[in-house]
Amino acid sequence: MRKNLIILGSTGSIGRQTLEIVREFPREFKIIGLAGGRNFELLAKQVREFQPKFISIGLPLTSELTRGLTAGYSKVKILPLEKLAAQKCDLVVSAISGVAGLPPTLAAIRARNSVALANKESLVLAGKIVIAQAKKFGVKILPVDSEHSAVWQLLQKVPRDKVRRIILTASGGALRDTPLAEFSKISPQKVLRHPTWAMGAKITLDCATLANKAFEIIEAAHLFDFPLDKIEAVIHPQSFVHAMIETVDGNLFAQMSQPSMKLPISLALFDGVRQDDSVAPLDLVGRNLEFRKIEKARYPLFFTILAAAQKGGIFPAAAAASSEFWGQKFLAGEIAFPEIAKLTEKSLRKVSPKPASLKNILAVVNSFQ
Ligand SMILES: NC(=O)c1ccc[n+]([C@@H]2O[C@H](COP(=O)([O-])OP(=O)(O)OC[C@H]3O[C@@H](n4cnc5c(N)ncnc54)[C@H](OP(=O)(O)O)[C@@H]3O)[C@@H](O)[C@H]2O)c1
Repeated sequence: MRKNLIILGSTGSIGRQTLEIVREFPREFKIIGLAGGRNFELLAKQVREFQPKFISIGLPLTSELTRGLTAGYSKVKILPLEKLAAQKCDLVVSAISGVAGLPPTLAAIRARNSVALANKESLVLAGKIVIAQAKKFGVKILPVDSEHSAVWQLLQKVPRDKVRRIILTASGGALRDTPLAEFSKISPQKVLRHPTWAMGAKITLDCATLANKAFEIIEAAHLFDFPLDKIEAVIHPQSFVHAMIETVDGNLFAQMSQPSMKLPISLALFDGVRQDDSVAPLDLVGRNLEFRKIEKARYPLFFTILAAAQKGGIFPAAAAASSEFWGQKFLAGEIAFPEIAKLTEKSLRKVSPKPASLKNILAVVNSFQ
């Protein structure tokens, strides 16, 4: 029986790579839903190719847009995003970028759909709620992030109670070797040129500030039910090692592979079952593996977000929403790169502590939109 899939964010980097795997395995998967944001031309093309039952688009629905989207397959029904995520299926790939990913992820879980989770922001904003709901509705949350896929794979080899530390790696982003003195003049174009991964704009910027790695530490704490202060990160420019786990006896186990999202996406789609040649093998002969400490002067936002995570309550959500807000201002050319961290820190000082109820989380997220 083919697995019925819904892909949220099908027009993005993870969404398109997921569809590449679906193309390779037509007997394994059937697309029943696709959701795009603003790229209606690509969504229309995907509708023609995959003929889903349902789609969603993040643009106001005019009759012209409806005609364009349904021209290639008139049976497709256009739904609001959360309704689409709640259609019965075997797996929802949650790959919308940013804080907008939380409501459809929760809608999918509440409809008893298992989730392949790329949208790390869902767990940063509302990790306890997302995990509790997944338990309540008996659905799986499968990691798509390469680091979390690595930890997931490593934890299948090592007993959980013998793990002392989880260590995630970070490429260091586009500015890892740029002199600090040049930071105030950095252009968005330079920041968006990632040295090892080809990804969407938000995550590429978050790699340069290392906000992404702080989010991933929070994500790992929720996914693996592991204490925040026992999850660390190091810079590893080659991006071959995705994560390591240290066991109580002093062993260090690492997962290594080419920097390609095809492997973690494939493992999530196939529920952990390995497929032949998901990525090209990694030949380490003649390669250097380098690891560096994360410096506060270069990556202040990493430390700000982790401090917010330690505070708990609505602070991680506020940190994700405010860094996203100021990040977009930088990408729009309205503020300088170092201002992202400074203004996020300033915004967080104005946030009053509140418990992490969904209502409080959505209120603080909306206050930054
Ligand atoms: N790319 C990677 O290698 C990678 C690795 C690990 C984790 N992730 C995570 O996966 C998620 C997606 O990343 P990405 O790199 O694929 O991002 P991306 O290329 O920017 O794609 C984002 C997708 O979300 C859609 N979207 C954005 N805002 C939306 C909204 N408000 N409503 C509906 N749809 C919306 C976009 O639609 P349009 O393009 O049509 O506007 C696009 O389909 C992020 O949470 C990221 O952190 C990505």
